[in-house]
Amino acid sequence: MSIPLTISAFLALFVMMHNFLGTPLEPLKLLPTTQNIRILIDFIKIFKMGKFLNLLFCILISNLIICFAQDCSSYNFRNNEIYATCVSLPVQNSNLHWNYHPNNGTVDVAYRHAGVSTSTWVAWALNLNGSGMVGSQALVALPNSNGSVQAYTSSVDSYGTGLQQTPLSFDVPTIRAERVNGDVLIYATLVLPSGRTSFNQVWQSGPISNGAPGAHPLGSENRNSLGTVDFITGQTGAGAPVGGSLLHRRNTHGVLNAVSWGILMPIGAMVARYLKVFKVAHPAWFYIHIACQASAYSVGVAGWGTGLKLGSDSEGIKYTSHRNIGITLFALGTLQVFALLLRPKPDNKYRKYWNIYHGGVGYTVITLGIINVFKGLDILDPEKKWKHAYIGVLISLGAIAVILEAFTWFIVLNRKKEEKQVNGGHLANGYDRNNGQAA
Ligand SMILES: *[C@@H]1O[C@H](CO)[C@@H](O)[C@H](O)[C@H]1NC(C)=O
Ligand SMILES: *[C@@H]1O[C@H](CO)[C@@H](O)[C@H](O)[C@H]1NC(C)=O
Ligand SMILES: *[C@@H]1O[C@H](CO)[C@@H](O)[C@H](O)[C@H]1NC(C)=O
Repeated sequence: MSIPLTISAFLALFVMMHNFLGTPLEPLKLLPTTQNIRILIDFIKIFKMGKFLNLLFCILISNLIICFAQDCSSYNFRNNEIYATCVSLPVQNSNLHWNYHPNNGTVDVAYRHAGVSTSTWVAWALNLNGSGMVGSQALVALPNSNGSVQAYTSSVDSYGTGLQQTPLSFDVPTIRAERVNGDVLIYATLVLPSGRTSFNQVWQSGPISNGAPGAHPLGSENRNSLGTVDFITGQTGAGAPVGGSLLHRRNTHGVLNAVSWGILMPIGAMVARYLKVFKVAHPAWFYIHIACQASAYSVGVAGWGTGLKLGSDSEGIKYTSHRNIGITLFALGTLQVFALLLRPKPDNKYRKYWNIYHGGVGYTVITLGIINVFKGLDILDPEKKWKHAYIGVLISLGAIAVILEAFTWFIVLNRKKEEKQVNGGHLANGYDRNNGQAA
C-alpha cells in the first residue's frame, strides 16, 4: 500500500523543483536560504501527509476486501452442523459448505443463499455431462407462504423448465431446506457418480409465481452463476461465458474508478474549497488538495486503462456513453494536471481567469465522474449493497459539504465585519487575497 506514499514523495519533489525554478510564467531565480528552509519543512509536511493518506487508503481498501470476501467458514449453522470445507460463490450471495466422505463416495452439502425473499426460489445443481443450466441436476428450495421451505430435486432438461420435481441421475438419500434470518439453506446428501469428485456447478434464484418456480431474471448475476467445484481439493473455478477473470477485471475496474473519480476527487475539491478559509491551514490545504487529486488521478488512470482493455476485449458489447464519458474524464483530468503547471502567481492579473477555468473544469470532472460511476454500476450490476454504499458515501460527503459551506460563509462574513470595524467603516476587500495559493 505504498502508492500514496510514492505519489506524495513525487509531489514533494515536484513542489521543491517548482519552488526552485519558479512558475513557468516567471524568470528563473534561486530563492534565498530562509525560503529553502521553508521548502524543506513543506517537504517533510507533505511526506507526513502521504503517510496519513496511506492510512486512509489502507482502511478504505481493507474495508472493501472485507466486504468482498465474506468468510463462509465463520457461519454458524442452526443445528451446529460442522462442514469441513466451504466456498463463497462469486455471485448471488451464495455459499457452498460440504463434508466429503471418501469411504462411500458421498458428500453432505449445505447450499446457503443469503438475503432471499419469501417469494423467491433458489436452486443449486451439478452438471455431470455439460455446463450451465441444461442437463443440470438441481436441488430446489421453494419457500411456502406459511414460512416453511419445500425442498426437492429436479433434473433440468431444457431452458423452458418449470423445475418440476423429478429424480436425479444420481442418488440423493436426504434433502431438506429451511429459512434462517432471510437466508435459505438446502441440506442434502449426494451419492456422487463413481469415481468423480469434480463437477460443473450452477446456482440460481428466481421469482415464485402461483406457488411454482418462475423463469429467473437474466441480469449479470444470473448469467455468471456457474463454475466448477472439486469436493476433494475444495477448489472452485469460474464458468465459461462471462465468468471468473473477466468478472474479476470488471470489478477491479469498478473499484479503481469509483474510489478515484467517484470519491477521492470530490474529497480533494472539498479540501480546496473549505480548508483554505482557515488561516492555520495555509499552505497545507494546497498540498492536501494536490496530494488528493494526484492520487485520484493516478488511480483513475489505472482504472481508465483497465476500462479501455475491457472495452477492446468484450467484442460485440458496447457501452458507448460510459466509454465516451470515461474518455472525456481522462482528457479533462489530464488538462487539470497541466493547468497546475501553468498557473499564474496569485497576484497575476490572469490568475482570476485561471481560477474560474480550474474550478469549472474541476466541478465538471467531479459531476461526470459520479455520473459514470453510476453508469458503471448499472453495467456491472453488482449486488445492491454496492450501489447503496456508494450513495451512502456521496450523501455523507454532501452533508459534510453543506455544513462546511455554512461554516465558511459564517467565517467569511465575520471576517468582513471585523475588517470593516478595523477600517472604520470602509469596506475591506483584503480577505479575498488571503485565498491566494501557497507556492
Ligand atoms: C458415508 O460415510 C459417512 C462417514 O463414514 C457416514 O456418516 C454416512 O452415513 C455414509 N453415507 C451413506 C449414504 O452411506
Ligand atoms: C451423462 O453421461 C453418462 C454416460 O454417457 C450417462 O450415463 C448419464 O446418464 C449422463 N447424465 C446425465 C445427467 O445426462
Ligand atoms: C406449509 O404448507 C405446506 C403446503 O403448502 C405444508 O406441506 C406444510 O406442512 C406447511 N407447514 C407448516 C409448518 O404449516
